[in-house]
Amino acid sequence: MNAANQLIDNGNAEAAVAAYLHRHETKGLLRFITCGSVDDGKSTLIGRLLYESKGLFEDQLAALDKDSRRHGTQGENIDYALLLDGLSAEREQGITIDVAYRFFSTDKRKFIVADCPGHEQYTRNMATGASTADVAVVLVDARKGLLTQTRRHSYIVSLLGIRHVVLAVNKMDLVGYDEAIFDDIVAGYRELAVQLGIAHVTAIPLSALKGDNLLQRSPNTPWYDGTSLLGFLETVDVGTRGSDIGFRLPVQWVNRPNQDFRGFAGTIAVDAVSPGDDVVVLPSGRRSKVARVIGANGDLDRAVAGQSITLTLTDELDVSRGDVLADAHKPPQVSDQFAAHVLWMGEQPLLPGRPYWLKVGTRTVSTSVTEIKHKVDVNTQDQLAAKHLELNEVGYCNLHLDQAIPFEAYADNRELGGFILIDRQSNATVAAGTIDFALRRAGNIHWQHVDVDKAARARSKAQEPRCVWFTGLSGSGKSTIANLVEKRLHAMGHHCYILDGDNVRHGLNKDLGFTDEDRVENIRRVAEVARLMVDAGLIVLVSFISPFRAERRMARALFEPGEFVEVFVDTPLAVAEGRDVKGLYAKARAGRIPNFTGIDSPYEAPEQAELVLDTVHEAPEVAAEKVIARLLP
Ligand code: ADX
Repeated sequence: MNAANQLIDNGNAEAAVAAYLHRHETKGLLRFITCGSVDDGKSTLIGRLLYESKGLFEDQLAALDKDSRRHGTQGENIDYALLLDGLSAEREQGITIDVAYRFFSTDKRKFIVADCPGHEQYTRNMATGASTADVAVVLVDARKGLLTQTRRHSYIVSLLGIRHVVLAVNKMDLVGYDEAIFDDIVAGYRELAVQLGIAHVTAIPLSALKGDNLLQRSPNTPWYDGTSLLGFLETVDVGTRGSDIGFRLPVQWVNRPNQDFRGFAGTIAVDAVSPGDDVVVLPSGRRSKVARVIGANGDLDRAVAGQSITLTLTDELDVSRGDVLADAHKPPQVSDQFAAHVLWMGEQPLLPGRPYWLKVGTRTVSTSVTEIKHKVDVNTQDQLAAKHLELNEVGYCNLHLDQAIPFEAYADNRELGGFILIDRQSNATVAAGTIDFALRRAGNIHWQHVDVDKAARARSKAQEPRCVWFTGLSGSGKSTIANLVEKRLHAMGHHCYILDGDNVRHGLNKDLGFTDEDRVENIRRVAEVARLMVDAGLIVLVSFISPFRAERRMARALFEPGEFVEVFVDTPLAVAEGRDVKGLYAKARAGRIPNFTGIDSPYEAPEQAELVLDTVHEAPEVAAEKVIARLLP
């Protein structure tokens, strides 16, 4: 047992942690991930590494985390706390991640192992474990050779930018330490690695159980002249990522204690910074020079990637949280569209057109997927057509953001190239993504200025433009009420227009059906049309089932405050079905209309409609009167 463990046993956790951190302060840190299943001998391998080296076991981690923060440790050591912080942030965002992090150290290095179960939810677990790892240990059972899961894990490893793979051919004792078997497996894997673009593969014949080539070279494999697994992990040079891309500091917060001081705080993502360096603030593009670099103990001559610092500039520039300070001579790109791989982790599918929050670096913006180019079969890497992505699926997508942001290709910079998508309603993390490259097309389309504006057009009609959005089940009475409202408004001299689901689906939206993704697109288009009509000065009455909250919210966001009036035509299913004006419920119940709202497709009632109409107890005329009263108070 090492000193740290002993002290913790003595109940003196704080001192133990301090001692542990001090002892390991000067050592380099390697993060790696293990992939494979229990059958491959993964737990034996990890258990043995921990046992043989001076392992720090899980039950001591909580103490380590708490104490290292209390101690305000810096530099490498803060990694422990940061790691756990990252995880708890994800947990708060409602995602269950089944990744065990283990810590151990040897005389040469300290290690963080992300151990991801290889079965259920592998994509999301592996994405979490792999996104910070530099090396992946891919376990293969020598008796079984390469399996589908080996392909799958290696694909995710390559997607998440891990460049060093250890092919651990385990259970060599069960195949008589046969060199030919080992060579065969290695040859197969090298082919796969080339396909996947994995740069460095180191193959090691192992017996985790017997200890062969785990800590030392084994006499049982005299034909093998490479290093032991631990030897490799202790010495592998993973290089510094992005050393050629230049300094990057995503701004976490702006520190302005008084008029005279304005500092920009964050953790350096790439490279280093010194006073006097030229920097550019993105996305604004303003330039300045670094005045001071301030660390926890005062001014520094230089700070490097991983360090938390505060910068001051020689000019008074507007910089806010989410901006990136970068080397002015090698700035990252700025764009509002890019192509990316998206690993979907949401229980509900990803639907193109639906808005999500996208968080990259310290910035959060609104985004939607404009196109799923294809999804990838993670077992075979085949590209398949897809209209949506389900839990654990990987898609290659185009994304559009509502504002341009600084970013980098994930291959160059994980901090500015990796992102998560967050559901706007539940705040759950629903995807991890890796940016490939910017799409420039839309950058060349500019908003054309026109002199006669909405206010002028509205004035000439002597009305306040509105989008009155009727939502409710089929047969709830939306169209009947909208029709009465239009008649009344028209009689009063107002200029209105009804956009009705059934009608719009005969023209503009005739290519759309009733799958979830088609309904999202249906609402996206009609909301955009309604916006144009409101811009034209009209009172638009939209009568669509619009069953999903996310799209009604998206529609609302297109309008100015007060312009959008959501009217929930709150007719219970039994009543709408009882009326069955178009005979559709009967057909749906008979199984002849799939995805029928209320029957086998959900309707999400509004939570904050401006108006709720009760068509059970009120006549349509009374309901229409309430809408008018709301519009013309
Ligand atoms: S929405 O869900 O995409 O907003 P929309 O309002 O355009 O629906 O169209 C609904 C109308 O299409 C219904 O009033 C009904 O007449 C018809 N319809 C045909 N199939 C379906 C279905 N599967 N679910 C709901 N409505 C359907």
